[in-house]
Amino acid sequence: MAMASFLRRLLLFSFLLSLSHSSAATRPDALVVPVKKDPSTLQYVARIGQRTPLALLDLVVDLGGRFLWVDCDTDYASSTYRPSRCGSAQCSLARATGCGDCSSPPGPGCNNDTCGVSPENPVTRTSTGGELAQDALSLHSTDGSSPGPLATAPRFLFSCAPAFLLQGLAADADGVAGFGRTNIALPTQLAAAFSFHRVFATCLTSITDGVIFFGDGPYNLLPNVNASQSLIYTPLLVNPVCTAGTCTRDEKSVEYFIGVKHIKVNDKDVALNKTLLSIDSKGVGGTKLSTVAPYTVLESSIHKAVTAAFAAALGGVRRTAPVAPFEVCYNASDLGSTRVGPAVPQIDLVLQNEGVYWRIFGANSMVSAADGVLCLGFVDGGPNPRTSIVIGGYQMEDNLLQFDLAASRLGFSSSLLFRQTNCANFNFTSTA
Ligand SMILES: *[C@@H]1O[C@H](CO)[C@@H](O)[C@H](O)[C@H]1NC(C)=O
Ligand SMILES: *[C@@H]1O[C@H](CO)[C@@H](O)[C@H](O)[C@H]1NC(C)=O
Ligand SMILES: *[C@@H]1O[C@H](CO)[C@@H](O)[C@H](O)[C@H]1NC(C)=O
Ligand SMILES: *[C@@H]1O[C@H](CO)[C@@H](O)[C@H](O)[C@H]1NC(C)=O
Ligand SMILES: *[C@@H]1O[C@H](CO)[C@@H](O)[C@H](O)[C@H]1NC(C)=O
Repeated sequence: MAMASFLRRLLLFSFLLSLSHSSAATRPDALVVPVKKDPSTLQYVARIGQRTPLALLDLVVDLGGRFLWVDCDTDYASSTYRPSRCGSAQCSLARATGCGDCSSPPGPGCNNDTCGVSPENPVTRTSTGGELAQDALSLHSTDGSSPGPLATAPRFLFSCAPAFLLQGLAADADGVAGFGRTNIALPTQLAAAFSFHRVFATCLTSITDGVIFFGDGPYNLLPNVNASQSLIYTPLLVNPVCTAGTCTRDEKSVEYFIGVKHIKVNDKDVALNKTLLSIDSKGVGGTKLSTVAPYTVLESSIHKAVTAAFAAALGGVRRTAPVAPFEVCYNASDLGSTRVGPAVPQIDLVLQNEGVYWRIFGANSMVSAADGVLCLGFVDGGPNPRTSIVIGGYQMEDNLLQFDLAASRLGFSSSLLFRQTNCANFNFTSTA
């Protein structure tokens, strides 16, 4: 037991050493990637450079994904591609299982004596086998205000996947960028490659382009707003049971959970079955964040209680016919407007104590579901979902969320619209 964990640490250490020779002119303190929202799938797609010569890839952001995977069947050409040999430190770091040969013609994704992992499509929940490999990964460095020169991690670990695994992803997607809590997901691998803190921050938006930062702030948005200022913090919780499509034995979930204790609508507590809000010994229940859920998904009884409380609080306003997948809808002209969106009751996700809550205003609760119709953007997850509350992309937009993996805490800004900015306001005009 002790020996195994010693060995694992030794392997991790030598791996990190080998990764630390990054070829940026100066070591960046932080990195930045632009993120677009695909209008038809509502997925968030990050643009990241890989390979030699550099290819720009569009990767679907999966907050709970284990690693980066790309389609290696379609036009993969790179002089710096290196498959991970069986028994190598990379295979242990990736917890890769098995060791295999490939019977198709050799090339990226098909080499003998390599270890494999299970790339998963988080939308269709399909997974398959994929060769573990390394190649150069390039992102823009940043001082927090605009992009600087490209920084390259020369041996970034990822998985190859067959082209069919892209089905269900945004049309131009080349793969998936996993941001989960593993050694080889982007946040930890980039932090190791460039020796910065294991911290990343998302600032998603429906407008082009949102932004994801790797490393500590500042995270500055035009006009001169320091978005890392006045964050509210809540612990990130670990679900002890794997929540992915395929799991190895005793694997914990690599997704990000937070401890929602109760929910308020216009400051009034909504009566809920509290058992559903905590994670039980089988890993069922609780609240997680997901960028592949377009809207927040609530277990049926929670959905019913929250939508009823919301409709009651807006009692004076007549409802219109529901527009699927939503239930509570209004004529937009019957709702007033505020700086933070339609004037509707605020919804608070109350966290570790009464003073700490994630407040959701109209801009993040009301969805324009049809011409002139605004609906409460929470969907019914059915009576027995694995996770009771899945906070989806729409509710995260124009909020800065900072995931600090070392401190295991989430910092959240609440709506940046209050501060007269939004997540499309990172200055992507590059000096380099
Ligand atoms: C793997 O090894 C076998 C047996 O030596 C060989 O026939 C096959 O072509 C090799 N495959 C690749 C992808 O190199
Ligand atoms: C931004 O805010 C953070 C958190 O309050 C602070 O540590 C940092 O110094 C600020 N940065 C700038 C450039 O004002
Ligand atoms: C609350 O939820 C738990 C977990 O699903 C369930 O076992 C229990 O019966 C529920 N309690 C009530 C009062 O509905
Ligand atoms: C909303 O109300 C206005 C004014 O009463 C009306 O003209 C319009 O048709 C309504 N829109 C919908 C989608 O019901
Ligand atoms: C955006 O950044 C560029 C490069 O640093 C700078 O020249 C430009 O003035 C900035 N734009 C704004 C609106 O501040």
